[in-house]
Amino acid sequence: MSTSFQLPDGFLWGASTAAHQIEGMNVNSDFWAYEHSGLLPERFRETSGDACDSYHRWREDMDLLAELGFTDYRFSIEWARIEPAPGEFSNAAIAHYRRMVEGAIERGLRPMLTLHHFTCPRWFDEQGGWDSEDAVDLFGRFVDAAAPIFATNVKHICTINEPNMVARFATLRKAVLADNDLQQSGSLEPDGATTGALIRAHQRAVQVIRGVTPHIQVGWSVAIPNYFVVDGGEARAAEIASRSRDVFVLASEGDDWIGVQAYTRVFVGPDGELPVPEGAPKTLTGWEYYPPALGESIRSVAQLVPGTPIIVTENGIAESDDTRRIAYTSGALEGMRDAAADGIDIRGYYHWSALDNYEWGSFVPTFGLIAVDRKTFVRTPKPSAAWLGAAGQSRSIELISDDLMSESVV
Ligand code: BGC
Repeated sequence: MSTSFQLPDGFLWGASTAAHQIEGMNVNSDFWAYEHSGLLPERFRETSGDACDSYHRWREDMDLLAELGFTDYRFSIEWARIEPAPGEFSNAAIAHYRRMVEGAIERGLRPMLTLHHFTCPRWFDEQGGWDSEDAVDLFGRFVDAAAPIFATNVKHICTINEPNMVARFATLRKAVLADNDLQQSGSLEPDGATTGALIRAHQRAVQVIRGVTPHIQVGWSVAIPNYFVVDGGEARAAEIASRSRDVFVLASEGDDWIGVQAYTRVFVGPDGELPVPEGAPKTLTGWEYYPPALGESIRSVAQLVPGTPIIVTENGIAESDDTRRIAYTSGALEGMRDAAADGIDIRGYYHWSALDNYEWGSFVPTFGLIAVDRKTFVRTPKPSAAWLGAAGQSRSIELISDDLMSESVV
């Protein structure tokens, strides 16, 4: 089998980021409030602070991505900056994100905009978040107000990033408010009411966007864990998959595409999700090092929504050893290539992440293709950035993953 991957015509080739993780000083957001509340578990108590200061340095970020050869950039706009108080919109923040769209185009990077990447305005959270009665209307109003950002020159919009994780956070949030013990065994179930609200919010956003510019291709990005069943956990795995993954994937029917986000696999036994087995190779997040996750995730999604084109909107690894990042990514791309060869309609790949950034409570897990000095904010591309970026121009990438699975224990 060939060890290279030829990028099909029009294939999107980029890197991803999210506003809260790179912009810095996102002080009106709910996550900023959590960071400073003392409620997060001990090892997730680092605050985001200036993050990568990308609110000011986005031009540098885009210059680098374009110079490296990428043709696409996925970034998010921050609701908390655009609507810092209910119904009060910042024209300056809207103009800022519009400049980013134009800046990307000028550099030859096609922008994919994410409208919601985990964070909300603090006021939205305080009034009940996705559980409040008017959550869907409020999100729709925000999307409508943000229309000048995407009205022209934006071809792809991701409405909501990983709604399935957002629904899990909602369960966590309720447990914290009720002072419940979070260390329950098994998996954290997505909150049912939040799941419904997010699906309706997505549908509302699609409606608003299509009303503004019908040619925009809209979708949402779902975290797609693959469930690896052990000790007869089949029924439990099916239950978890249905509530934590499938309902969100099925909701994308009728969309222009669905975003697949894959990093690792999840072990499930009869009592629920299990820790990564002892001796398995791990990454800095404690997840199993498992490159085939991407190909497997793509195949699960294609089975659920066979008519919906797939875009890989996130895939990557938290690693300090960049050689291992290249090996992991190479293995993941091999899985993607094989899925495409089997006829699955895959339209693009965005690596997570462009920069070493704020990983929701800690700067330790470094997912970036580009290192960022925490004090000076100087950016230094890693070898993985050059390797991956170059494929954007040559439209072909050498894969080096022959003995990847030798690290796996299962
Ligand atoms: C999220 C990112 C996150 C990444 C690695 C995805 O769940 O969209 O915000 O940094 O995975 O954990």
